[in-house]
Amino acid sequence: MKLLVTGGCGFIGSNFIIHMMESYPDVNVINLDLLTYAGNLENLQDVAPYGSRHRFVRGDISDKETVRCLLAEKPDVVVNFAAESHVDRSIMDCCSFIHTNIRGTQVLLDACREYKIPRFVQISTDEVYGSLHAEEPPFTEDNQICPNSPYAASKASADLLVRSYHKTYGMDVVITRCSNNYGPLQFPEKLIPLMITNALQDFELPVYGDGRNVRDWIHVRDHCRAIDAVMRKGRPGDVYNIGSEAEFHNIDIVRYILCRLDKPESLIRYVEDRPGHDRRYGMNAAKLRSELGWTPLISFEDGMNQTVSWYIEHEMWWQRIRTGEYLNYYEDWYGKSLGAANSKPKC
Ligand code: NAD
Ligand code: TYD
Repeated sequence: MKLLVTGGCGFIGSNFIIHMMESYPDVNVINLDLLTYAGNLENLQDVAPYGSRHRFVRGDISDKETVRCLLAEKPDVVVNFAAESHVDRSIMDCCSFIHTNIRGTQVLLDACREYKIPRFVQISTDEVYGSLHAEEPPFTEDNQICPNSPYAASKASADLLVRSYHKTYGMDVVITRCSNNYGPLQFPEKLIPLMITNALQDFELPVYGDGRNVRDWIHVRDHCRAIDAVMRKGRPGDVYNIGSEAEFHNIDIVRYILCRLDKPESLIRYVEDRPGHDRRYGMNAAKLRSELGWTPLISFEDGMNQTVSWYIEHEMWWQRIRTGEYLNYYEDWYGKSLGAANSKPKC
């Protein structure tokens, strides 16, 4: 099986590539990633032993020629992780969100149609559904989409485009919508890695608003196994929610991290709330469980313990992000060695 994975140098995409390499000896991956601030080739160091089964190409999913070049190689599936993914950045300026999340998805869809790619998997998010009240049941696939942030709106737009290519052109597409992920290799601008790395340095932990917003957490490797299942067995045109029923208030996550690291709660600093801050997300993944037999394997407690340990053990990884040194990795190492020959698509 040959996959084109986009955004494979980000948090979930890199975990997915590692999962596929470890799980299947017959899977080859072309990884198309622009290496924005969120893309980090150092995330793929564990893929090195798999040699040429993983090929990195630096490029933009919105660049038609690059995408057409790669699809001419006839992958069996395109899995689209590439995105601008941080809500706070979308509030500051959403241009790049429109460019990548909407325009990029459209370019991929058009090229998949042209090259008759057998399947397109769109990696989406629970945030397209909007916000739940405390007493409401978790989102099912039948909930209306009702995005509240520019990020969520751009992801919802992409979902609608993907759906329309199925309805209009009969393309085989599937959409996954997952809850908040945590685990190794997450960029330290998101809640859990930011709080762990700040606490490790005795920096303040900025908690938005009253800290009582609720997120539903899933370990990234459980998410990757779910994508794998949907990619192989999902019904064409369908949406699959992914989640592991682990809803927590933000403040409880922050307190848990402080306790685990033996740091004082005086590090907590309540700051101005995020505009339009969704109060609660919660996912019902019953369809995925019953139709595709997926079930999460990592409890929140085990996953968080493992994640905190990972950040303690990989200080160099996140310090290089904090200082910006990670941005030189491509030029310094990859560009000069195997990457030079590898990094441009040949058409
Ligand atoms: P991330 O920000 O860590 O990684 C995004 C990757 O996409 C980076 O490697 C970046 O370089 C690449 N990229 C950005 N623009 C690109 C472009 N124009 N062309 C090619 N590559 C580009 O994101 P993530 O947390 O790994 O999320 C991956 C996907 O999963 C996203 O689509 C996101 O919406 C979705 N998702 C994320 C979560 C979560 O909790 N992180 C939850 C549900 C769904
Ligand atoms: P985040 O990791 O940005 O994910 P998302 O907004 O996609 O759910 O934020 C998770 C929750 O944590 C969200 O309710 C906002 C809150 N948060 C803070 O309180 N402080 C922070 O510094 C960050 C980054 C997030």
